[in-house]
Amino acid sequence: MRTKMVAGNWKMNKTLQEGVALATELKKAVKNPKCEVVIGTPFIHLATVAELLKGSPIKVAAENCADKASGAYTGEVSAAMVASTGAEYCILGHSERRAYYHEDYDILREKVLLALENGLKPIFCIGEVKEEREAGRQNEVVRAQLEGSVFNLSQEEWKNITLAYEPVWAIGTGLTATPQQAQEMHAYIRSLIAEKYGKEAAENTTILYGGSCNAKNAAELFANPDVDGGLIGGASLKAPDFCTIIAAR
Ligand code: 13P
Repeated sequence: MRTKMVAGNWKMNKTLQEGVALATELKKAVKNPKCEVVIGTPFIHLATVAELLKGSPIKVAAENCADKASGAYTGEVSAAMVASTGAEYCILGHSERRAYYHEDYDILREKVLLALENGLKPIFCIGEVKEEREAGRQNEVVRAQLEGSVFNLSQEEWKNITLAYEPVWAIGTGLTATPQQAQEMHAYIRSLIAEKYGKEAAENTTILYGGSCNAKNAAELFANPDVDGGLIGGASLKAPDFCTIIAAR
């Protein structure tokens, strides 16, 4: 059976002190989750939060890593550096990185490979923008994102990939995809994985939903057979809300 997961993405929120306070609250509240629980934090929190969460079931993710291994890339943080903090996961391909920092298929392919080489498990985000959904092009967009950046991976490498379907029109907008829209897309994504890596690999791949998933709608979204959990933005910044979502999985 594939891993069920609830992952938070703090994005560019929380000072170090605020992040430590939130992680401390979560550590106290999350003792025996029925699913994998991950918090994605800014780079500056990783080492401290990973240390703080030792002995807790909660795992830590970076929200990004560099597309180069090391060297003269001022301001960048490599996958090896991320791994050295104790983080186990790395969110890659988020639509905010694609849109605001021009991360294209090629850059993301490099990032995914470097993350894997350094023992990190990528949570790879895909999803269409509003205009693409309105034009009925969501399937072709998601297929191109997979083919462009992760379908080059070997069967063995694929085992460490978690996908997150995040329709861009649903992110931070309060416009959640309906459970039917989420299920339909997740089933389509699973069919693409089956085509590429076979049915067993497809059945074993965790596919999260992200986009205005919150304490109120999580259970309904997670009830779908192909929705294995959520990648949570805003609602992951408050411990009680995030805990309710974890309990819904
Ligand atoms: P929101 O939950 O704030 O809509 O953000 C979703 C997201 O982008 C998670 O990566």
